Amino acid sequence: MQYAIQLNKISKRFNQGYVLNEINFGVKTGEIFGFLGPSGSGKTTTLKIITNQLIPTSGEVLLWDKNHKEISLEQIGILSDNSSVYERLTIKENLMLFARIHDVSIEEVDRLLKRIRLYEVKNKPVKTLSKGMKQRLLLACSVIHKPKLLFLDEPTSSLDPTSMIEIQNLIKEINEQGTTIFLTTHNMYEADSLCHRIAFLNGGEIIEVGSPAELKQKYRKNTLVVTLLDNSVHLIDLDTSEKYELVKWIEESKILTIKSDEPTIEDIFIALTGRELV
Ligand SMILES: Nc1ncnc2c1ncn2[C@@H]1O[C@H](COP(=O)(O)OP(=O)(O)O)[C@@H](O)[C@H]1O
Ligand SMILES: [Mg+2]
Repeated sequence: MQYAIQLNKISKRFNQGYVLNEINFGVKTGEIFGFLGPSGSGKTTTLKIITNQLIPTSGEVLLWDKNHKEISLEQIGILSDNSSVYERLTIKENLMLFARIHDVSIEEVDRLLKRIRLYEVKNKPVKTLSKGMKQRLLLACSVIHKPKLLFLDEPTSSLDPTSMIEIQNLIKEINEQGTTIFLTTHNMYEADSLCHRIAFLNGGEIIEVGSPAELKQKYRKNTLVVTLLDNSVHLIDLDTSEKYELVKWIEESKILTIKSDEPTIEDIFIALTGRELV
């Protein structure tokens, strides 16, 4: 099946008006799909609609070509702001609780504890853990039943850089073992480095979808960043007479480096919307 998730004309209206306006997109089986948008753009609303925690005003959601209401919860995992564990129980006790609910073996719990690098501290109560450790535990709880599809709602927001990288590496590993991932974020670097494809949500609409490489190519500017031997840096627009300046520098052997001025995911978002991704 090519698509794990398909949204057909999904709209959501709250009292203050439409948050989602007939959005359509598909998440392919096996990919990490990044859903990018500024705060308040409707990322969590979309995730909740797909996972049947919120009813859309109109439109339909298909998971593996079936209406999402027909899909067993065993097939999906969710990590969001309101995911929680028992603070007074230890790391292992928490995982064992989830394991029992899903009929998962003790060996599997130990394997998972090692994978999230919490095996050595497994007997510590959760309330004594750092934010990063707790997030690793929450991620483990969301995948203990080996879901085919995992939903992650801003999994690294408010983590320190080291914990952020640890979580991102775990997300990659989980995906490499065959889980399709739908990830919301407003972190453009995360989207760029982790996701096979990304969609931009803005003003209730999907304004662009593609792989980071495709998008960078599509919004590429015809400019080069040239650093000369005297360390001065110049932006050369190849569509203007500035290119003759570059030719002159080459002839005079004045150049230290030349780099293409590739747009970042954030540059593209700003170009499309006129606003920053915060
Ligand atoms: N239950 C709700 N009732 C009313 N408005 C809501 C509700 N949930 C979300 N909203 C509004 O919908 C918009 C999108 O919210 P949300 O999906 O949480 O955005 P994001 O996750 O992108 O930050 C916001 O303006 C928010 O205030
Ligand atoms: Mg949100």
